[in-house]
Amino acid sequence: MSDKRFHLGWFMNFTPDEWREPFGQGGRPWDGQFYVEMARALERACFDYIMIEDKLMVPQTYGGSAKASLNHGMMVPKHDPAPLAVAMGMATQRLGVIATMSTMAYPPFLMARLCSTIDSLTNGRFGWNVVTSAEDLMAKNFGMDRLPPRDQRYEMADEYMEVMGKLFESWDPDAVVLDRDAGIYADETKVRPIDFEGKYYKVRGPLNTVPSPQGRPIYVQAGASPKGRDFAATHADSIVSVASGVEEMRKFRADIRARAEKFGRDPDTIKVMFCVTPTLGETDDEARAKYERMLNSPHFIVDTLASLSAITEIDFAQYDLDRPLPEKLVTNGESGTLDKFQQWGSGKTLRELVVAGGGGLVSSVELVGTPDTVAERMGEVMAEVGGDGFLITTPVLRVSRRFITEVTDGLVPALQKRGLARTAYAHEKLRDNLLDF
Ligand SMILES: Cc1cc2nc3c(=O)[nH]c(=O)nc-3n(C[C@H](O)[C@H](O)[C@H](O)COP(=O)(O)O)c2cc1C
Repeated sequence: MSDKRFHLGWFMNFTPDEWREPFGQGGRPWDGQFYVEMARALERACFDYIMIEDKLMVPQTYGGSAKASLNHGMMVPKHDPAPLAVAMGMATQRLGVIATMSTMAYPPFLMARLCSTIDSLTNGRFGWNVVTSAEDLMAKNFGMDRLPPRDQRYEMADEYMEVMGKLFESWDPDAVVLDRDAGIYADETKVRPIDFEGKYYKVRGPLNTVPSPQGRPIYVQAGASPKGRDFAATHADSIVSVASGVEEMRKFRADIRARAEKFGRDPDTIKVMFCVTPTLGETDDEARAKYERMLNSPHFIVDTLASLSAITEIDFAQYDLDRPLPEKLVTNGESGTLDKFQQWGSGKTLRELVVAGGGGLVSSVELVGTPDTVAERMGEVMAEVGGDGFLITTPVLRVSRRFITEVTDGLVPALQKRGLARTAYAHEKLRDNLLDF
C-alpha cells in the first residue's frame, strides 16, 4: 500500500489565547505554560512542528490608530517567539519548534548564534521562519523611516542567507575535540573566520557557538510574490502558504517545485504546507452552526480587517463594508495575503470578502464537519494537490484548550485511522521527520 501520509504543522503566535469566548483561557499566557502545554498536546498527536508567527510593532493602521488592535487584543500584545520556542522545545522530545525572526531586525551574526543555540537546546528540533518584514511601522522601531521595497528586501535577504550559511560552516563538524587528556576542547585549525563583505553585510566570523545538531536550523518561508517564491524555492525546507481552493494549492506547489528544480534542488526536500482553519463538531450540522456563529459574530469582521490592515498597512476601516473595494489595492507588505483577500473583479462587498474563503484570511479550503468528515476531505484535497501537508490554525490565530483538543484528540486520530498522518515519530531531529515521507 502506498504511503498516503502528509505532514502537520500548527501556526500560532505568542499573543493572548482565546480570552473572549465562553471556553477561553483567561488571556494571560505570558508565563508560557499554556503554550508549553499546547506543544505537548501537539507532540502527543505527532505533529511535525509548531510555528510561532511574529511582528515587531503595535499595529495602528486600522482606523488610523492602535485602538482596534489594543481593544481587541489583535496582533498585540505579542511576546518574543524565541524564548517561547526554547520553553516549548525543552518541554518536548520530538516536536519541531519554529520561531519567526526578521532579517530586517537581527544582524546575521546574532541570528546565526541564536538559531544555533536554540537548535542545541532542543537537540536538533529548531526551525527559523525567515521573514523580511512588511511594515513601515516595524521599520521605525529599527532606525529606518520606511522599509526598502520588497524586491530589495529579498535581495538583502539572499545575501543574509549566504552569510548565515558561511557562519554555520565556520566550524567544521568535528571541530570540537574534547580531549581531556591533552586538554583540548576545540581544534583551532577547524574554526575559521568567514571575512564576508557583500553589498549589505560585512561579517568577520567565525561563529562562537559549537555546530548544532542539525548544523543549521530548518528554514521555513512564506514568499508569495515572484521574488518571494524564488527566495523560498532557493532556501526553504518548508514553505507555508494560504491559497484559495484546491486548484490554487496545486498550482502553487507545482510552481514552487519547478522553481526549486531550476535552482538545482530536489523538490522533494521542500515541504509545502497549506494553512487551514477547521471547524469541528459532534455532527456535521453542529459544526456548520458553529462556523456560521463565528462568521456572524460582531467581532469577526473587525478582527479580520484589523489584522489585515496590520500586515498590509492599508486602512480597511475607510471602506464601506457593503460595497466592493473601490480600486485594486497594492502593498509593499504582505502582497500574497492581500491578493487572495481582495479577489479583484469578483464584485463582492468588503463584508462578503471577509466571510468568503472559509474563516477569514487563513483557510486554503473550507473544512467544516465532524472529525471524520474533515479528515476525509483533507485526504481528498492532499491527493489532488500532490502534497505535502497542512498548517492548522484559527482565523485570527487565537487558540483555546478546547480547540487544540478537538484537533489532537478528534481530527488527528481520524487522519491516523485513514493512514493520512503519522502515528509515531521515526526520528529525533526535525529535518529527518520532515524528510521521512
Ligand atoms: C502562513 C504564513 C505565515 C507568515 N508568517 C509571517 C510572520 O510571522 N511574520 C511576518 O512578518 N510575515 C509572515 N508572513 C508573510 C510572509 O513572510 C510574506 O511576506 C508574505 O507571504 C508575502 O509574500 P511576499 O513577501 O513574497 O509578497 C507569513 C505568511 C504566511 C502565508
